Amino acid sequence: MADDTSIFIGASRKPDDSYQRPERLLLQYGNRHGMITGATGTGKTVTLQILAESFSNAGVPVFCADIKGDLSGIAMMGTAQDFLVKRAKQIKLDPYEFQEFPVIFWDLFGEQGHPIRATVSEMGPLLLSRLMNLSEAQEGIMNIAFRIADEEGLLLLDLKDLQALLANIADRAQEIGARYGNVTKPSVGAIQRTLLVLEQQGATNFFGEPALRIADIMRTTRDGRGAISVLAADKLMMNPRLYATFLLWLMSELFEELPEVGDPDKPKLVFFFDEAHLLFEDAPKVLIDRVEQVVRLIRSKGVGVYFVTQNPLDIPETVLAQLGNRVQHALRAYTPREQKAVKTAADTFRPNPDFSSATVITQLGTGEALVSTLEAKGAPSMVQRTLIRPPSSRLGPITPDERRKLITESPVAGQYDETIDRESAFEMLQKKAKDALDAEAQQQESGRSRWTIPGFGNDDPPPQTTGGGRPPARRASNRQTVAEAAIKSVVRSVGSSVGRAIVRGILGSLSRGR
Ligand SMILES: Nc1ncnc2c1ncn2[C@@H]1O[C@H](COP(=O)(O)OP(=O)(O)OP(=O)(O)O)[C@@H](O)[C@H]1O
Ligand SMILES: [Mg+2]
Repeated sequence: MADDTSIFIGASRKPDDSYQRPERLLLQYGNRHGMITGATGTGKTVTLQILAESFSNAGVPVFCADIKGDLSGIAMMGTAQDFLVKRAKQIKLDPYEFQEFPVIFWDLFGEQGHPIRATVSEMGPLLLSRLMNLSEAQEGIMNIAFRIADEEGLLLLDLKDLQALLANIADRAQEIGARYGNVTKPSVGAIQRTLLVLEQQGATNFFGEPALRIADIMRTTRDGRGAISVLAADKLMMNPRLYATFLLWLMSELFEELPEVGDPDKPKLVFFFDEAHLLFEDAPKVLIDRVEQVVRLIRSKGVGVYFVTQNPLDIPETVLAQLGNRVQHALRAYTPREQKAVKTAADTFRPNPDFSSATVITQLGTGEALVSTLEAKGAPSMVQRTLIRPPSSRLGPITPDERRKLITESPVAGQYDETIDRESAFEMLQKKAKDALDAEAQQQESGRSRWTIPGFGNDDPPPQTTGGGRPPARRASNRQTVAEAAIKSVVRSVGSSVGRAIVRGILGSLSRGR
Protein backbone atom coordinates (compact mmCIF):
# COMPACT_ATOMS: atom_id res chain seq x y z
CA MET A 1 0.00 0.00 0.00
CA ALA A 2 2.92 2.31 0.63
CA ASP A 3 4.86 4.03 -2.09
CA ASP A 4 7.92 6.26 -1.85
CA THR A 5 6.09 9.53 -1.93
CA SER A 6 3.15 9.09 0.39
CA ILE A 7 1.90 7.27 3.43
CA PHE A 8 -1.36 5.38 3.65
CA ILE A 9 -3.79 6.68 6.25
CA GLY A 10 -6.91 4.66 5.47
CA ALA A 11 -9.73 4.46 2.97
CA SER A 12 -12.57 6.86 2.35
CA ARG A 13 -16.14 5.76 1.95
CA LYS A 14 -18.84 6.79 -0.45
CA PRO A 15 -22.13 8.18 0.89
CA ASP A 16 -23.62 4.66 0.58
CA ASP A 17 -20.84 3.40 2.87
CA SER A 18 -19.02 1.47 0.15
CA TYR A 19 -15.27 1.66 -0.40
CA GLN A 20 -14.12 4.78 -2.25
CA ARG A 21 -10.33 5.02 -2.42
CA PRO A 22 -7.11 5.10 -0.35
CA GLU A 23 -6.38 8.34 1.49
CA ARG A 24 -2.76 9.35 1.66
CA LEU A 25 -0.47 11.91 3.16
CA LEU A 26 2.15 13.17 0.75
CA LEU A 27 5.61 12.98 2.33
CA GLN A 28 6.67 16.14 0.54
CA TYR A 29 4.03 17.98 2.59
CA GLY A 30 4.75 16.14 5.80
CA ASN A 31 6.46 19.28 7.10
CA ARG A 32 3.32 21.34 6.51
CA HIS A 33 2.16 20.28 9.94
CA GLY A 34 -1.06 18.68 10.99
CA MET A 35 -3.54 17.90 13.69
CA ILE A 36 -5.33 14.93 15.15
CA THR A 37 -8.41 15.92 17.09
CA GLY A 38 -11.43 14.17 18.53
CA ALA A 39 -13.28 13.33 21.72
CA THR A 40 -11.89 10.83 24.16
CA GLY A 41 -11.77 7.24 22.93
CA THR A 42 -12.37 8.08 19.26
CA GLY A 43 -9.00 6.87 17.94
CA LYS A 44 -6.49 9.72 18.25
CA THR A 45 -3.70 7.66 19.76
CA VAL A 46 -4.09 4.91 17.17
CA THR A 47 -3.97 7.52 14.40
CA LEU A 48 -0.79 8.90 15.93
CA GLN A 49 0.56 5.36 16.08
CA ILE A 50 -0.11 4.56 12.40
CA LEU A 51 1.30 7.90 11.27
CA ALA A 52 4.44 7.38 13.37
CA GLU A 53 4.81 3.85 11.94
CA SER A 54 4.52 5.06 8.38
CA PHE A 55 6.88 7.99 8.84
CA SER A 56 9.40 5.61 10.38
CA ASN A 57 9.08 3.22 7.45
CA ALA A 58 9.64 6.16 5.12
CA GLY A 59 12.92 6.90 6.92
CA VAL A 60 11.60 9.86 8.89
CA PRO A 61 12.49 10.02 12.60
CA VAL A 62 9.58 10.73 14.91
CA PHE A 63 9.30 12.27 18.35
CA CYS A 64 6.13 11.75 20.35
CA ALA A 65 4.92 11.73 23.92
CA ASP A 66 3.13 8.74 25.41
CA ILE A 67 0.56 10.22 27.74
CA LYS A 68 -1.16 7.05 28.94
CA GLY A 69 1.47 4.43 28.21
CA ASP A 70 -0.70 3.00 25.42
CA LEU A 71 1.58 4.17 22.63
CA SER A 72 4.55 2.13 23.87
CA GLY A 73 3.29 -0.95 22.01
CA ILE A 74 4.65 0.61 18.84
CA ALA A 75 7.98 -0.98 19.80
CA MET A 76 6.52 -4.50 19.51
CA MET A 77 5.06 -6.51 16.70
CA GLY A 78 1.26 -6.46 16.49
CA THR A 79 -0.96 -9.54 16.44
CA ALA A 80 -3.84 -10.41 14.14
CA GLN A 81 -6.81 -9.51 16.32
CA ASP A 82 -10.19 -9.99 14.66
CA PHE A 83 -11.33 -6.39 14.69
CA LEU A 84 -8.02 -5.22 13.25
CA VAL A 85 -8.06 -7.79 10.46
CA LYS A 86 -11.66 -6.87 9.70
CA ARG A 87 -10.72 -3.20 9.44
CA ALA A 88 -7.80 -4.08 7.16
CA LYS A 89 -10.18 -5.93 4.80
CA GLN A 90 -12.68 -3.07 4.81
CA ILE A 91 -10.07 -0.64 3.63
CA LYS A 92 -8.34 -3.09 1.26
CA LEU A 93 -5.09 -3.01 3.20
CA ASP A 94 -3.55 -6.06 1.62
CA PRO A 95 -1.30 -7.55 2.78
CA TYR A 96 -1.88 -6.43 6.36
CA GLU A 97 1.55 -7.05 7.84
CA PHE A 98 2.81 -6.86 11.39
CA GLN A 99 6.00 -5.16 12.35
CA GLU A 100 7.94 -3.84 15.32
CA PHE A 101 9.47 -0.38 15.17
CA PRO A 102 12.83 1.05 16.27
CA VAL A 103 11.87 2.92 19.44
CA ILE A 104 14.01 4.92 21.83
CA PHE A 105 12.29 5.46 25.15
CA TRP A 106 12.89 8.71 27.00
CA ASP A 107 11.74 9.91 30.39
CA LEU A 108 12.40 13.21 32.13
CA PHE A 109 12.48 11.27 35.37
CA GLY A 110 14.79 8.60 33.98
CA GLU A 111 12.50 5.75 35.05
CA GLN A 112 10.74 4.55 31.92
CA GLY A 113 13.38 5.58 29.46
CA HIS A 114 16.71 7.30 29.06
CA PRO A 115 16.84 10.48 31.11
CA ILE A 116 16.31 13.55 29.03
CA ARG A 117 17.89 16.75 30.26
CA ALA A 118 18.41 20.36 29.32
CA THR A 119 20.56 22.97 30.99
CA VAL A 120 19.02 26.02 32.62
CA SER A 121 20.95 28.12 30.13
CA GLU A 122 19.44 26.33 27.16
CA MET A 123 15.98 26.68 28.63
CA GLY A 124 16.44 30.44 28.89
CA PRO A 125 14.54 33.04 30.91
CA LEU A 126 11.33 33.12 28.87
CA LEU A 127 10.57 29.42 29.12
CA LEU A 128 11.75 29.20 32.73
CA SER A 129 9.47 32.04 33.67
CA ARG A 130 6.61 30.24 31.97
CA LEU A 131 7.53 27.04 33.72
CA MET A 132 7.57 28.77 37.10
CA ASN A 133 4.49 30.78 36.27
CA LEU A 134 6.26 34.04 37.08
CA SER A 135 4.66 37.45 36.86
CA GLU A 136 5.85 39.91 34.27
CA ALA A 137 7.93 41.78 36.87
CA GLN A 138 9.50 38.54 38.04
CA GLU A 139 10.24 37.56 34.46
CA GLY A 140 12.09 40.87 34.20
CA ILE A 141 14.29 39.86 37.10
CA MET A 142 14.86 36.47 35.53
CA ASN A 143 16.08 38.22 32.39
CA ILE A 144 18.46 40.31 34.47
CA ALA A 145 19.69 37.18 36.24
CA PHE A 146 20.53 35.56 32.93
CA ARG A 147 22.23 38.69 31.75
CA ILE A 148 24.37 38.82 34.86
CA ALA A 149 25.26 35.16 34.46
CA ASP A 150 26.29 35.87 30.87
CA GLU A 151 28.33 38.91 31.83
CA GLU A 152 30.03 37.28 34.76
CA GLY A 153 30.68 34.00 33.03
CA LEU A 154 28.55 31.90 35.36
CA LEU A 155 27.45 28.64 33.82
CA LEU A 156 23.81 27.87 34.51
CA LEU A 157 23.42 24.13 34.20
CA ASP A 158 21.14 22.83 36.93
CA LEU A 159 18.63 24.27 39.38
CA LYS A 160 21.34 24.49 42.04
CA ASP A 161 23.13 26.97 39.78
CA LEU A 162 20.03 29.06 39.33
CA GLN A 163 19.34 28.98 43.07
CA ALA A 164 22.93 30.11 43.81
CA LEU A 165 22.73 32.86 41.22
CA LEU A 166 19.47 34.16 42.64
CA ALA A 167 20.89 34.08 46.18
CA ASN A 168 23.88 36.04 44.95
CA ILE A 169 21.63 38.54 43.22
CA ALA A 170 19.56 38.93 46.38
CA ASP A 171 22.75 39.74 48.26
CA ARG A 172 23.71 42.30 45.64
CA ALA A 173 20.18 43.57 45.09
CA GLN A 174 21.13 47.17 45.79
CA GLU A 175 24.03 47.28 43.38
CA ILE A 176 22.18 45.35 40.66
CA GLY A 177 18.96 47.28 41.18
CA ALA A 178 20.87 50.52 40.67
CA ARG A 179 22.18 49.20 37.38
CA TYR A 180 19.07 47.50 35.95
CA GLY A 181 16.22 48.72 38.17
CA ASN A 182 13.44 46.68 39.73
CA VAL A 183 15.61 44.22 41.59
CA THR A 184 14.90 44.03 45.30
CA LYS A 185 15.73 41.40 47.85
CA PRO A 186 12.07 40.45 48.45
CA SER A 187 11.27 40.21 44.74
CA VAL A 188 14.23 37.89 44.17
CA GLY A 189 13.18 35.98 47.28
CA ALA A 190 9.76 35.32 45.77
CA ILE A 191 11.38 33.77 42.69
CA GLN A 192 13.65 31.67 44.89
CA ARG A 193 10.60 30.26 46.63
CA THR A 194 8.90 29.40 43.33
CA LEU A 195 12.08 27.64 42.32
CA LEU A 196 11.87 25.51 45.45
CA VAL A 197 8.37 24.45 44.46
CA LEU A 198 9.65 23.49 41.03
CA GLU A 199 12.36 21.39 42.66
CA GLN A 200 9.80 19.65 44.83
CA GLN A 201 7.82 18.78 41.73
CA GLY A 202 10.75 16.75 40.45
CA ALA A 203 12.14 19.19 37.90
CA THR A 204 15.59 18.78 39.45
CA ASN A 205 16.18 15.66 37.36
CA PHE A 206 15.48 17.45 34.18
CA PHE A 207 17.93 20.33 34.50
CA GLY A 208 21.56 19.42 34.08
CA GLU A 209 24.01 17.51 31.95
CA PRO A 210 24.49 15.59 29.77
CA ALA A 211 21.86 17.57 27.89
CA LEU A 212 19.95 15.93 25.07
CA ARG A 213 21.75 15.97 21.74
CA ILE A 214 19.28 16.73 19.00
CA ALA A 215 21.09 14.26 16.77
CA ASP A 216 19.92 11.47 19.06
CA ILE A 217 16.28 12.04 18.27
CA MET A 218 17.05 12.26 14.56
CA ARG A 219 18.50 8.81 14.13
CA THR A 220 17.75 6.36 11.43
CA THR A 221 18.42 2.64 11.55
CA ARG A 222 20.77 0.73 9.31
CA ASP A 223 17.84 -0.50 7.25
CA GLY A 224 16.78 3.10 6.64
CA ARG A 225 13.88 3.46 9.06
CA GLY A 226 13.41 6.53 11.22
CA ALA A 227 13.81 6.00 14.95
CA ILE A 228 10.69 6.71 16.98
CA SER A 229 11.46 8.56 20.20
CA VAL A 230 8.72 7.92 22.73
CA LEU A 231 8.66 10.18 25.76
CA ALA A 232 7.05 8.62 28.82
CA ALA A 233 4.63 11.28 29.91
CA ASP A 234 2.24 9.64 32.36
CA LYS A 235 4.07 10.95 35.41
CA LEU A 236 5.07 14.11 33.60
CA MET A 237 1.42 14.95 33.05
CA MET A 238 1.09 15.54 36.77
CA ASN A 239 3.16 18.63 36.11
CA PRO A 240 1.54 19.82 32.87
CA ARG A 241 3.55 23.00 32.85
CA LEU A 242 6.82 21.09 32.82
CA TYR A 243 5.46 18.86 30.08
CA ALA A 244 4.40 21.74 27.86
CA THR A 245 7.52 23.80 28.53
CA PHE A 246 9.76 20.85 27.81
CA LEU A 247 8.16 20.14 24.44
CA LEU A 248 8.26 23.80 23.59
CA TRP A 249 11.93 23.89 24.47
CA LEU A 250 12.57 20.85 22.30
CA MET A 251 10.78 22.49 19.40
CA SER A 252 12.82 25.66 19.78
CA GLU A 253 16.03 23.62 20.01
CA LEU A 254 15.14 21.87 16.78
CA PHE A 255 14.49 25.21 15.23
CA GLU A 256 17.80 26.65 16.44
CA GLU A 257 19.94 23.67 15.56
CA LEU A 258 18.67 22.41 12.26
CA PRO A 259 19.78 23.94 8.98
CA GLU A 260 17.35 25.40 6.46
CA VAL A 261 16.29 22.78 3.93
CA GLY A 262 13.49 24.52 2.09
CA ASP A 263 10.98 21.96 0.89
CA PRO A 264 12.49 18.48 1.21
CA ASP A 265 11.06 15.27 -0.39
CA LYS A 266 10.13 14.12 3.07
CA PRO A 267 10.38 15.64 6.56
CA LYS A 268 13.63 15.51 8.53
CA LEU A 269 11.63 14.86 11.69
CA VAL A 270 8.02 14.65 12.67
CA PHE A 271 7.07 15.91 16.09
CA PHE A 272 3.75 14.95 17.68
CA PHE A 273 2.54 17.31 20.35
CA ASP A 274 -0.03 15.33 22.33
CA GLU A 275 -2.34 17.11 24.81
CA ALA A 276 -1.51 20.24 22.86
CA HIS A 277 -4.07 22.29 24.77
CA LEU A 278 -1.55 22.39 27.63
CA LEU A 279 0.74 24.45 25.46
CA PHE A 280 -1.79 27.21 25.00
CA GLU A 281 -3.85 27.05 28.17
CA ASP A 282 -3.56 30.39 29.96
CA ALA A 283 -0.32 31.09 28.11
CA PRO A 284 0.51 34.79 27.79
CA LYS A 285 0.00 36.31 24.37
CA VAL A 286 3.75 36.77 23.77
CA LEU A 287 4.28 33.06 24.23
CA ILE A 288 1.44 32.13 21.89
CA ASP A 289 2.89 34.52 19.33
CA ARG A 290 6.29 32.87 19.66
CA VAL A 291 4.81 29.41 19.33
CA GLU A 292 3.01 30.54 16.21
CA GLN A 293 6.32 31.88 14.92
CA VAL A 294 8.27 28.71 15.72
CA VAL A 295 5.63 26.55 14.06
CA ARG A 296 5.70 28.72 10.97
CA LEU A 297 9.48 28.85 10.70
CA ILE A 298 10.35 25.29 11.67
CA ARG A 299 8.74 24.07 8.47
CA SER A 300 11.72 25.22 6.44
CA LYS A 301 13.94 23.11 8.69
CA GLY A 302 12.00 20.10 7.50
CA VAL A 303 10.21 19.52 10.81
CA GLY A 304 6.52 18.68 10.76
CA VAL A 305 4.59 19.41 13.94
CA TYR A 306 1.35 17.52 14.56
CA PHE A 307 -0.90 18.72 17.34
CA VAL A 308 -3.02 16.12 19.07
CA THR A 309 -5.86 17.34 21.24
CA GLN A 310 -9.53 16.72 21.91
CA ASN A 311 -10.96 19.99 20.77
CA PRO A 312 -9.77 22.00 17.78
CA LEU A 313 -10.75 25.14 19.71
CA ASP A 314 -7.82 24.36 22.03
CA ILE A 315 -5.46 25.53 19.30
CA PRO A 316 -5.21 29.25 18.58
CA GLU A 317 -6.48 30.24 15.17
CA THR A 318 -3.11 31.52 13.97
CA VAL A 319 -1.63 28.08 14.65
CA LEU A 320 -4.64 26.14 13.41
CA ALA A 321 -4.40 27.93 10.08
CA GLN A 322 -0.94 26.46 9.55
CA LEU A 323 -1.94 22.82 9.99
CA GLY A 324 -2.21 21.35 6.52
CA ASN A 325 -2.83 17.67 7.24
CA ARG A 326 -5.95 17.09 9.31
CA VAL A 327 -7.52 14.09 10.92
CA GLN A 328 -10.71 14.97 12.75
CA HIS A 329 -12.23 12.14 14.78
CA ALA A 330 -15.72 12.29 16.26
CA LEU A 331 -16.80 15.17 18.45
CA ARG A 332 -19.80 15.35 20.70
CA ALA A 333 -22.18 18.24 20.29
CA TYR A 334 -24.23 18.53 23.46
CA THR A 335 -23.09 21.80 24.97
CA PRO A 336 -22.87 25.12 23.11
CA ARG A 337 -19.09 24.98 23.38
CA GLU A 338 -19.07 21.51 21.85
CA GLN A 339 -21.37 22.71 19.08
CA LYS A 340 -19.01 25.59 18.43
CA ALA A 341 -16.09 23.16 18.23
CA VAL A 342 -17.96 21.04 15.70
CA LYS A 343 -18.69 24.10 13.61
CA THR A 344 -15.08 25.32 13.79
CA ALA A 345 -13.74 21.90 12.87
CA ALA A 346 -16.21 21.55 10.00
CA ASP A 347 -15.56 25.04 8.65
CA THR A 348 -11.82 24.50 8.38
CA PHE A 349 -12.26 21.71 5.82
CA ARG A 350 -12.59 22.07 2.10
CA PRO A 351 -16.23 20.98 1.74
CA ASN A 352 -17.29 17.74 0.13
CA PRO A 353 -20.61 18.08 -1.73
CA ASP A 354 -21.49 14.52 -0.71
CA PHE A 355 -22.01 15.33 2.94
CA SER A 356 -22.14 17.99 5.61
CA SER A 357 -18.94 17.91 7.67
CA ALA A 358 -20.70 19.32 10.72
CA THR A 359 -23.24 16.51 10.68
CA VAL A 360 -20.76 13.74 9.96
CA ILE A 361 -18.32 14.79 12.71
CA THR A 362 -20.85 13.82 15.35
CA GLN A 363 -21.60 10.48 13.65
CA LEU A 364 -18.09 9.13 13.06
CA GLY A 365 -17.29 5.73 14.53
CA THR A 366 -14.19 4.75 16.50
CA GLY A 367 -11.10 4.86 14.32
CA GLU A 368 -12.98 6.81 11.71
CA ALA A 369 -12.26 10.45 10.85
CA LEU A 370 -12.73 13.31 8.50
CA VAL A 371 -9.43 13.56 6.67
CA SER A 372 -7.94 16.26 4.53
CA THR A 373 -4.30 16.38 3.47
CA LEU A 374 -2.30 18.66 1.27
CA GLU A 375 -2.27 17.58 -2.36
CA ALA A 376 -0.78 19.01 -5.55
CA LYS A 377 0.70 22.48 -5.02
CA GLY A 378 -0.02 22.24 -1.32
CA ALA A 379 -3.76 22.84 -1.61
CA PRO A 380 -5.97 21.02 0.89
CA SER A 381 -7.79 18.00 -0.47
CA MET A 382 -11.55 17.79 -0.33
CA VAL A 383 -12.52 16.37 3.05
CA GLN A 384 -13.24 12.63 3.07
CA ARG A 385 -14.95 10.38 5.55
CA THR A 386 -12.13 7.91 6.20
CA LEU A 387 -11.66 4.64 8.03
CA ILE A 388 -8.19 4.81 9.56
CA ARG A 389 -5.91 1.85 8.98
CA PRO A 390 -5.09 -0.52 11.84
CA PRO A 391 -1.55 -0.44 13.22
CA SER A 392 1.16 -2.97 12.34
CA SER A 393 2.64 -2.76 15.81
CA ARG A 394 1.00 -3.78 19.05
CA LEU A 395 -2.12 -1.98 20.14
CA GLY A 396 -1.70 -1.05 23.80
CA PRO A 397 1.21 -0.89 26.24
CA ILE A 398 4.35 -2.99 26.50
CA THR A 399 5.28 -4.77 29.71
CA PRO A 400 7.87 -3.32 32.11
CA ASP A 401 10.21 -6.21 31.23
CA GLU A 402 9.93 -5.54 27.52
CA ARG A 403 10.60 -1.89 28.18
CA ARG A 404 13.66 -2.58 30.29
CA LYS A 405 15.10 -4.82 27.59
CA LEU A 406 14.56 -2.20 24.90
CA ILE A 407 16.18 0.49 27.04
CA THR A 408 19.27 -1.67 27.56
CA GLU A 409 19.56 -2.37 23.86
CA SER A 410 18.91 1.18 22.71
CA PRO A 411 21.50 2.98 20.57
CA VAL A 412 21.89 5.68 23.24
CA ALA A 413 22.31 3.23 26.13
CA GLY A 414 24.92 4.55 28.56
CA GLN A 415 25.05 8.02 27.05
CA TYR A 416 22.59 9.80 29.28
CA ASP A 417 22.16 7.48 32.20
CA GLU A 418 24.55 9.20 34.63
CA THR A 419 24.30 12.85 35.59
CA ILE A 420 27.45 14.89 35.16
CA ASP A 421 27.90 17.71 37.66
CA ARG A 422 30.70 19.85 36.35
CA GLU A 423 31.81 23.15 37.80
CA SER A 424 29.16 25.77 37.18
CA ALA A 425 27.53 28.77 38.83
CA PHE A 426 26.80 27.00 42.11
CA GLU A 427 30.37 25.87 42.62
CA MET A 428 31.82 29.13 41.31
CA LEU A 429 29.68 31.31 43.51
CA GLN A 430 30.43 29.10 46.47
CA LYS A 431 34.11 29.41 45.78
CA LYS A 432 33.78 33.13 45.22
CA ALA A 433 31.99 33.59 48.53
CA LYS A 434 34.63 31.52 50.29
CA ASP A 435 37.44 33.47 48.65
CA ALA A 436 35.78 36.71 49.64
CA LEU A 437 35.50 35.56 53.24
CA ASP A 438 39.08 34.30 53.28
CA ALA A 439 40.34 37.54 51.83
CA GLU A 440 38.37 39.49 54.33
CA ALA A 441 39.64 37.38 57.19
CA GLN A 442 43.17 37.95 55.97
CA GLN A 443 42.57 41.64 55.74
CA GLN A 444 41.25 41.66 59.29
CA GLU A 445 44.16 39.57 60.43
CA SER A 446 46.76 41.88 58.99
CA GLY A 447 44.77 44.98 59.75
CA ARG A 448 44.05 44.20 63.37
CA SER A 449 47.10 45.94 64.82
CA ARG A 450 46.60 48.99 62.71
CA TRP A 451 42.87 49.70 62.70
CA THR A 452 41.64 49.12 66.24
CA ILE A 453 39.89 51.85 68.14
CA PRO A 454 42.41 54.05 69.94
CA GLY A 455 42.60 53.65 73.69
CA PHE A 456 41.35 50.05 73.80
CA GLY A 457 44.72 48.39 73.84
CA ASN A 458 46.61 47.04 70.90
CA ASP A 459 46.81 50.57 69.60
CA ASP A 460 48.63 51.27 66.42
CA PRO A 461 51.89 52.99 66.76
CA PRO A 462 51.14 56.67 66.08
CA PRO A 463 51.47 57.42 62.39
CA GLN A 464 54.75 58.90 61.34
CA THR A 465 53.14 61.44 59.09
CA THR A 466 52.10 64.79 60.35
CA GLY A 467 48.42 65.70 60.68
CA GLY A 468 46.65 62.65 62.13
CA GLY A 469 46.25 59.05 60.93
CA ARG A 470 44.70 57.65 57.80
CA PRO A 471 40.96 57.14 58.11
CA PRO A 472 40.05 53.52 58.74
CA ALA A 473 39.10 51.70 55.58
CA ARG A 474 35.42 50.99 55.43
CA ARG A 475 34.69 47.32 55.67
CA ALA A 476 31.87 47.48 53.14
CA SER A 477 33.91 48.95 50.35
CA ASN A 478 36.69 46.54 51.13
CA ARG A 479 34.39 43.61 50.67
CA GLN A 480 33.12 45.01 47.44
CA THR A 481 36.63 45.24 46.05
CA VAL A 482 37.43 41.72 47.08
CA ALA A 483 34.21 40.42 45.58
CA GLU A 484 34.80 42.34 42.39
CA ALA A 485 38.24 40.91 42.08
CA ALA A 486 36.88 37.45 42.59
CA ILE A 487 34.24 38.03 39.94
CA LYS A 488 36.83 39.24 37.48
CA SER A 489 39.00 36.24 38.07
CA VAL A 490 36.00 33.96 37.57
CA VAL A 491 35.17 35.73 34.35
CA ARG A 492 38.74 35.31 33.17
CA SER A 493 38.88 31.62 33.96
CA VAL A 494 35.43 30.71 32.68
CA GLY A 495 34.82 33.32 30.03
CA SER A 496 36.53 31.32 27.36
CA SER A 497 34.57 28.15 28.01
CA VAL A 498 31.26 29.97 27.93
CA GLY A 499 32.14 31.36 24.55
CA ARG A 500 32.44 34.91 23.41
CA ALA A 501 28.96 35.47 22.19
CA ILE A 502 26.03 34.13 24.12
CA VAL A 503 23.17 34.28 21.71
CA ARG A 504 19.64 33.63 22.76
CA GLY A 505 17.32 32.19 20.18
CA ILE A 506 13.71 32.55 19.28
CA LEU A 507 12.39 31.44 22.65
CA GLY A 508 15.16 33.06 24.62
CA SER A 509 17.02 29.82 24.99
CA LEU A 510 20.72 29.51 24.45
CA SER A 511 21.59 29.12 20.84
CA ARG A 512 24.89 27.57 19.98
CA GLY A 513 25.23 29.48 16.78
CA ARG A 514 25.09 27.97 13.35
N1 LIG B 1 -7.66 2.82 13.24
C1 LIG B 1 -8.16 1.95 14.11
N2 LIG B 1 -8.29 0.67 13.78
C2 LIG B 1 -8.77 -0.22 14.64
N3 LIG B 1 -9.17 0.08 15.90
C3 LIG B 1 -9.07 1.34 16.30
C4 LIG B 1 -8.55 2.35 15.43
N4 LIG B 1 -8.55 3.51 16.10
C5 LIG B 1 -9.04 3.25 17.32
N5 LIG B 1 -9.36 1.96 17.46
C6 LIG B 1 -9.92 1.32 18.67
O1 LIG B 1 -10.39 2.33 19.56
C7 LIG B 1 -9.71 2.31 20.79
C8 LIG B 1 -9.52 3.72 21.32
O2 LIG B 1 -8.68 4.45 20.46
P1 LIG B 1 -7.59 5.49 21.01
O3 LIG B 1 -6.92 4.97 22.20
O4 LIG B 1 -6.75 5.84 19.85
O5 LIG B 1 -8.54 6.71 21.42
P2 LIG B 1 -8.09 8.17 21.89
O6 LIG B 1 -8.84 9.13 21.07
O7 LIG B 1 -6.62 8.26 21.91
O8 LIG B 1 -8.66 8.18 23.38
P3 LIG B 1 -8.17 9.10 24.60
O9 LIG B 1 -8.63 10.48 24.33
O10 LIG B 1 -8.91 8.47 25.73
O11 LIG B 1 -6.70 8.96 24.69
C9 LIG B 1 -8.43 1.58 20.49
O12 LIG B 1 -7.91 0.94 21.62
C10 LIG B 1 -8.85 0.58 19.43
O13 LIG B 1 -9.43 -0.55 20.03
MG1 LIG C 1 -5.25 8.59 23.44
